[in-house]
Amino acid sequence: MFELMGRTALVTGAGQNVGAGIARALAAQGAAVAVNDFVPERAQAQAEQIVAAGGRAVAVPFDVTDYDAVVAGVAAAVAELGPIDILVNNAGNGGAHGMVPTQFRDSDPADWRGPIDVNLYGVMNCSHVVINPMRERGWGRIITIASGAGLIGLRLGVSPYAGGKGGAIGFMRHLAIENARDGVTANTLAIGLMELKDRTHTEALARQIPVGRTGRPSDIATAVVWLAAPESEWVTGQTIQINGGSTTS
Ligand SMILES: NC(=O)c1ccc[n+]([C@@H]2O[C@H](COP(=O)([O-])OP(=O)(O)OC[C@H]3O[C@@H](n4cnc5c(N)ncnc54)[C@H](O)[C@@H]3O)[C@@H](O)[C@H]2O)c1
Repeated sequence: MFELMGRTALVTGAGQNVGAGIARALAAQGAAVAVNDFVPERAQAQAEQIVAAGGRAVAVPFDVTDYDAVVAGVAAAVAELGPIDILVNNAGNGGAHGMVPTQFRDSDPADWRGPIDVNLYGVMNCSHVVINPMRERGWGRIITIASGAGLIGLRLGVSPYAGGKGGAIGFMRHLAIENARDGVTANTLAIGLMELKDRTHTEALARQIPVGRTGRPSDIATAVVWLAAPESEWVTGQTIQINGGSTTS
């Protein structure tokens, strides 16, 4: 079940944390994985880890916000591993490069574009480059990692990020319908607060999660494997929340 041998996946922002977990899980099911990150050393290190574990992977560093770079990066991945069957849009701007943890009324317009660029344009760029080849082959899976912040209102002061993620959620629904007759599914995971090695501020928020803990990359990767597999062909246009039962914040 969920056999991915013979399939090729591209996972964006896979140099660490959630994306790295997704890349490893897809490789463990047999997929050849193009590991993207705009930090080349991260992409390289994750690709090497997969290969060391017996999988097939190459690093394809590029910035998902740059359409021409996406075209070149996908071409490099295809040359090494074959056509992309599975695209996971995981690269996200969650803080360091533009999410502004401030109330919108106090925010600087110059800080809005970063989160929209990565979380929405990044998804559109990558999807645009792979969609026609997927349609021509009659098979494809596009999975976008969004956030609960794109679905519900939070007090955290992340409205530009929510704009990007919410935009991606709407975009993916339409992508799904446009391609539903051509063997290509498009689904979104709206994920909750993750427990990540380099985050220390999450304890109080974690206590509010019904299941009683923050998420692990494997919690998300398991769902990606299902959505990437042939068995999920009747699932498209969905936004699935994976968040330990959170309904509000
Ligand atoms: N961490 C959380 O609590 C949380 C919650 C909800 C949603 N998410 C979403 O889940 C996804 C993964 O989150 P994470 O915490 O693992 O993120 P992270 O910031 O730890 O890792 C993201 C990776 O993406 C890369 N990246 C960023 N911008 C890029 C670009 N323009 N092009 C290519 N690579 C780029 C970064 O270099 C980094 O290695 C993101 O889309 C994030 O918005 C995370």
